[in-house]
Amino acid sequence: DWTMGAYREESIAKIREQVGTERVICGLSGGVDSAVAAVLIHEAIGDQLTCVFVDHGLLRQGEAEEVVRLFRDHYNIPLVHVQAQEMFLSALEGVSDPEVKRKTIGRLFIDVFEAESKKIGGAAFLAQGTLYPDVIESVSFTGGPSVTIKSHHNVGGLPERMNMKLVEPLRELFKDEVRVLGRELGLPEGFVGRHPFPGPGLAIRCPGTITTEKLDALRKADAIYLEEIRKAGLYDTIWQAFAVILPVKTVGVMGDGRTYDHVCALRAVTSVDGMTADFYPFDMAFLGRVATRIINEVKGINRVTYDITSKPPGTIEWE
Ligand code: XMP
Repeated sequence: DWTMGAYREESIAKIREQVGTERVICGLSGGVDSAVAAVLIHEAIGDQLTCVFVDHGLLRQGEAEEVVRLFRDHYNIPLVHVQAQEMFLSALEGVSDPEVKRKTIGRLFIDVFEAESKKIGGAAFLAQGTLYPDVIESVSFTGGPSVTIKSHHNVGGLPERMNMKLVEPLRELFKDEVRVLGRELGLPEGFVGRHPFPGPGLAIRCPGTITTEKLDALRKADAIYLEEIRKAGLYDTIWQAFAVILPVKTVGVMGDGRTYDHVCALRAVTSVDGMTADFYPFDMAFLGRVATRIINEVKGINRVTYDITSKPPGTIEWE
């Protein structure tokens, strides 16, 4: 009978066989999937693995510090922390089309991985935490016509010129299984239980063009929202919760002045695998509390709405 312990042993053997004595670079996103992939691969091949964490300027508040701490201090896995904010944000300047955003980000990730590969004398493999649902959704909705819903940055679409082969040890797993595997590998519970966070990061939570002002406001609003969700004891019941900053300004009144600022949308869903999802039925008092805090504490936002769309017909992320 099948257990995660057996899966772990099997995966380790497969990784060793695939990789041989070559070097591997693993891109960490700050999410659970890439962290689990990295720890698994490290068990398999030790210091043949170099982890690369790219700060693309599209991370949440405190995210970079948390990831670096976990890998360097807790696991003692070699980690390169690449500061690429300028590179990504300048390439995204003026870009508002969601697919162009995703493809631009995917291309730059590869550029960074290739540059880091060169620095360590050439890695033959790039490792990613691709899950089964990522594979399906980038191809088509099951049963439907073959239409790309979203180009997941970590699936397919790698430039032809990339001369690294892929190692994707989680390709057969669903999210809940990855969490079981993460616990099996001894990842801290606080990390295993983290909500998913997409590779393109806040870029796809900022519909329209991306500016540092919008990103700053979004980070603050998102941190307040998640803090209140944790305080209310709801974090583990919810699959994913986040704020989105809309490219719409509305009029408001604060003190005795007029305001003209951005709208923030809050999203929270329950789901088993991210393939379908239901919006989370918060009570109104909770939503009111969060809205008041965001408007009082975040410069640039003067209105908050709650997204009551399930998936389908909506997707979880807004882009
Ligand atoms: P959607 O928005 O397609 O999202 O309903 C389903 C799940 O996938 C996450 N997601 C991504 N994860 N790279 C990732 O690693 C991506 O490009 C990407 N796009 C969406 C999303 O956060 C949700 O959990």
